[in-house]
Amino acid sequence: MVAKILDGKQIAKDYRQGLKDQVEALQAKGFTPKLSVILVGNDGASQSYVNSKKKAAEKIGMISEIVHLDVTATEAEVLGELKRLNEDETVSGILVQVPLPKQVSEQKVLEAINPAKDVDGFHPENIGKLYIDEQTFVPCTPLGIMEILNHADIDIEGKEAVIIGRSHIVGQPVSKLLLQKNATVTILHSRTKDMHKHLKDADIIVSAVGRPGLVTKDDVKEGAVVIDVGNTPDENGKLKGDVEYDEVKEIAGAITPVPGGVGPMTITMVLNNTLIAEKLRRGIE
Ligand code: GUN
Repeated sequence: MVAKILDGKQIAKDYRQGLKDQVEALQAKGFTPKLSVILVGNDGASQSYVNSKKKAAEKIGMISEIVHLDVTATEAEVLGELKRLNEDETVSGILVQVPLPKQVSEQKVLEAINPAKDVDGFHPENIGKLYIDEQTFVPCTPLGIMEILNHADIDIEGKEAVIIGRSHIVGQPVSKLLLQKNATVTILHSRTKDMHKHLKDADIIVSAVGRPGLVTKDDVKEGAVVIDVGNTPDENGKLKGDVEYDEVKEIAGAITPVPGGVGPMTITMVLNNTLIAEKLRRGIE
């Protein structure tokens, strides 16, 4: 079997067109969504993500700003900027790019975001709501993965879904979303004794570890759906997923490439959540 390629770039393009139309409709009512991003320090990958989010927001007619603080910024300074954005009437959504420098507590900062502007879904109130199946802001990579599966009409109910990685940003929330769709979910992590045993039974694999070459053709059942969240630059700066793409695509039923798979959908879901934040505060829909 040769896998169907799940083209996240194309799915994202179509989805963003829909968002652009909705932004225009809001603008006709006098409202323009605004996404504010706090970036602390000079990490190259974080800078590039943040710039991509800003550009994507502007491309669909939103306003976007990057609040860039020095790598030496104190926790109080970051919290001060956050307070200002929380109270700023023109700001619909706020995102604090992580990781933060070590002198700034990530937990304290994420807890300080106004939950109604928390378009990343990282505030404990929003995480809690996700786990009791209430409507809330859901982290963007998991949401993007679900949209890819939905777009490709992939049946989730009753399927064995195996997630590699238990992060708060991807592994745990995507497990919850798959559970909501009635998959049987297994989470693998660094202390798992026999990853291969679990992977061989999987109908759906989501790998979110950041270790190129982790998932090989020997791990994958014929026809399985393989979602690769890894994006690790190699020595030439080329992004590598966790999955041995060339060999796994020969046996999987469907697979996301890297780049051009999950990445573009993450950014799309940031825009989606920002639009929702703006609509909610204006009492629209
Ligand atoms: N760092 C890596 N992924 C993300 C993300 O989805 N949101 C934020 N804020 N920071 C990240």
